[in-house]
Amino acid sequence: MANIVIIGTQWGDEGKGKIVDLLAEYADMVVRFQGGNNAGHTMVVNGEKFISHLVPSGILQKKTCIIGNGVVVDPKVLLDEIDYLKEKGVTVDPDKLMICEKAHVIMPYHKNIDVASESMKGKNRIGTTGRGIGPCYDDKVSRRGIRFAELVDPEVFRERLLSVLPEKNFILEKYLSCEALDAESIIKEYSSYSKRLAPYVANISVVIHRAMKEGKHVLFEGAQGTHLDIDHGTYPYVTSSNTVAGNACCGSGVGPKEITGIVGIVKAYTTRVGEGPFPAELLDETGDYMQKKGDEFGATTGRKRRCGWLDMVLLRNAARLNSLTGLAITKLDVLGGLKTLKICTGYEYNGKLLRDFPASLKVLSTCKPVYEEMPGWDEDISGIRSLKELPKTTRNYLRKIEKLAEISINIVSVGPGRDETIMIKNPLKSKGQRGKGTGHKAKKG
Ligand code: GDP
Ligand code: IMO
Ligand code: MG
Repeated sequence: MANIVIIGTQWGDEGKGKIVDLLAEYADMVVRFQGGNNAGHTMVVNGEKFISHLVPSGILQKKTCIIGNGVVVDPKVLLDEIDYLKEKGVTVDPDKLMICEKAHVIMPYHKNIDVASESMKGKNRIGTTGRGIGPCYDDKVSRRGIRFAELVDPEVFRERLLSVLPEKNFILEKYLSCEALDAESIIKEYSSYSKRLAPYVANISVVIHRAMKEGKHVLFEGAQGTHLDIDHGTYPYVTSSNTVAGNACCGSGVGPKEITGIVGIVKAYTTRVGEGPFPAELLDETGDYMQKKGDEFGATTGRKRRCGWLDMVLLRNAARLNSLTGLAITKLDVLGGLKTLKICTGYEYNGKLLRDFPASLKVLSTCKPVYEEMPGWDEDISGIRSLKELPKTTRNYLRKIEKLAEISINIVSVGPGRDETIMIKNPLKSKGQRGKGTGHKAKKG
């Protein structure tokens, strides 16, 4: 039995969707445990591109897909996604997709408050996706939320909505200068969603537990990335959930003992969407090169992603915070054509070398990245399927990452397609397909 958490190590968009889709072939079930439709996970299969915001990325491999209690769900977005997948010939019936009855529902006022409060903040905005994620988690924590258990019960839904709406309308009208919302039209709209989604609602902790007891393999699909975590990220420039591996348990109703491995997804360079500190950011032609060659546009909002060098301060932080047991390096092909590559190994702060990620944004904003340089490669590596065929400089880059992170690389991705992959050690296979590895003896993994 292998129950593996797949987690982003940077600021999101590391390629989690691709790796989850790839590994789902060897799993029985894929579980999302946090975030909502702020996520945009891309899968490319036989040249066809699928973007999923809520449905776990195991759906194309026809695996049981579960939306856990830790996820905040916009029912309209979920229904649109189910329809979009069906149009593409992918079955999304209630035996393939389940939503936890304890998952919170994103309401219209969450979206309106998210957008209006961001625009009110002006230059201090977070740069949220505007999908109502933060306001929905606010209500969850302050015990004003509405869960699927309430959504599917018309009487209870009405009662809960009528009890929270006056306060929401007060904020919308008096503080954010927006229009108030009408209770009856929300009830009408959401009861139509409820009717369609009710068959998908289940006690997913019980469903996952049963599968684990039967020896099935479960993948837990993280959204966002470690440095967008509400506790451990670059607060307040973060999302509103815990994105680290520990939350796979809380967000799906599974005990920590069940997890057998944690794979950290690492983009071969770094990107970030929205505001917030980014020490290794490149505001020059190299950053533009990565942005263009990597097609770095947000899968949810279409915003241009900021780009920079690989930052090992981030990666070491992620390794510790998530107990990573293996790495998947993605978008390695994008670095081809750069004469010299840099890896950030520490930050210089007030003449001192910081090797650990600081919590204070004031400190972080004055940190200067310290780089190690390495020669790059010119070859197009996207057609390569084994480590030994990679150019020597590419292998050296991978070895350097393993050495600095002290974690073994399990997977190297050289293109967006499912098959554009070098599998070194499949974390879902006990004996694995381990080749010779990169040649570096990492401590873990
Ligand atoms: P996620 O949010 O972590 O699932 O990542 P996104 O899907 O938002 O962004 C990753 C983008 O990179 C998508 O467009 C993927 O199709 C693409 N991608 C993933 N792996 C690779 C790779 O190895 N090489 C290239 N060139 N693109 C990749
Ligand atoms: P995936 O799963 C990249 C960022 C937003 C913003 C901050 C807060 O595709 O990697 P929110 O709407 O969550 O309140 O926005 O978090 N953000 C992401 N950045 N990838 C994501 O998801 C993200 N989800 C949220 O850009 O800076
Ligand atoms: Mg994404």
